[in-house]
Amino acid sequence: MSKLAVNGGKKVIENHSVSWPIVDSRECEAVTNIVQTGKWGHQLDDEWDSCTIKKFREAFSEFVGVQYAIPCCNGSVALEVPLRVCDIGYGDEVITTPISWVASSLCATQVGAKPVFGDVDPDTFCLAPETIEPLITPKTRAIIPVHLGGHLADMDKIMAIARKHNLIVIEDCAQAHGAMCNGKQVGSMGDFGSFSFEISKLITAGEGGIIVTNDESLAEKTHAFVNAGIDYSGHNTSKSGMPGWNARITDIQAAILLVQLSRFGELAQKRFINYKHLLAGLRQIDGITVLPEQLGREYYFFFFRYKRSDFNNCSPDRFQQAILAEGVTAWRLFPPTHCHPKFASPYNYNNVKCPVAEELAADSFMIPHQMLIGSKEHTELIVEAFAKLKKYAGEL
Ligand SMILES: Cc1ncc(COP(=O)(O)O)c(C=O)c1O
Repeated sequence: MSKLAVNGGKKVIENHSVSWPIVDSRECEAVTNIVQTGKWGHQLDDEWDSCTIKKFREAFSEFVGVQYAIPCCNGSVALEVPLRVCDIGYGDEVITTPISWVASSLCATQVGAKPVFGDVDPDTFCLAPETIEPLITPKTRAIIPVHLGGHLADMDKIMAIARKHNLIVIEDCAQAHGAMCNGKQVGSMGDFGSFSFEISKLITAGEGGIIVTNDESLAEKTHAFVNAGIDYSGHNTSKSGMPGWNARITDIQAAILLVQLSRFGELAQKRFINYKHLLAGLRQIDGITVLPEQLGREYYFFFFRYKRSDFNNCSPDRFQQAILAEGVTAWRLFPPTHCHPKFASPYNYNNVKCPVAEELAADSFMIPHQMLIGSKEHTELIVEAFAKLKKYAGEL
């Protein structure tokens, strides 16, 4: 009789679903309060300064340890706006990673610039600094490192390259809220940091984003661009000279985000404890490789690689089906963006090679953070599910 759940056996994790997002009466009260006051969006009268959006931008800038935070409608726009603010567009090139959510590179094509792909570091899955410099041309204007899954891109080296070549750095922190590198929060080291509050993110309002910076002039321009040219005083007399667009969030989102932010520490602690258990457990299983520990990182994704020959030469898709069937959510790593057949247009990436990224994409998986906020018993069952796949690998 088959043992593996994928073949009809009993699954390891039956009744341990962890729901996301985590919500309690505080979110409900905060939203009800906004709905009742009628102050749902940005204020055009002199109450502008007391709006919930302002409270959230102050709370988030304190969280990241930056001077300015400008909320906006999503994390994709939070990458695009800094490029527009810096006049990056047609004819320009932006260096980024091939392993990420597509927004990390599509933000460049959105403004008419060309994404150029460096390779990644196999220990963090983040942009490898040593692959950046050979790609720099007179057209290069910006670098977008991504703190993938909460791992830390090497910002010291990336900033040194950027300063040498006079390039703008936008840290994509959509998957790394709260991660810290040498005492500095992600988002505070580049010229800009961008975050997403989409439904799967560590802090969420269903949708939303925020751009952070320490540069007053960049903040003025960013705020004006997101707010249809309106400056911080609430008047349509922007000193920045930015034409402006509407990329705002609502007060309803800001109210939810203020509560989510206050819950962050408690969930981060849970993720950290469960990550440690998972790491220790998976290290014992031959054929599963985990990434080295990285101090200060956050845990949006737990990445691992599987060795095909240790699992009956099963394909990565079969491996994924088998682990899912046991009750463990694990997805294939993001496919390298330069290999996407439709992404290329109008550029041609046929000759672009990122060997590390391509190799990782073939055998790597990511376990989402929702799997890290259950009980210790739940985490032990995750390890058991992997051990079971290994024990009955012949069935794969
Ligand atoms: C690394 C990264 N950057 C950017 C984004 C875009 O954020 P949003 O979905 O809020 O537009 C995401 C969203 O998944 C992401 O993971």
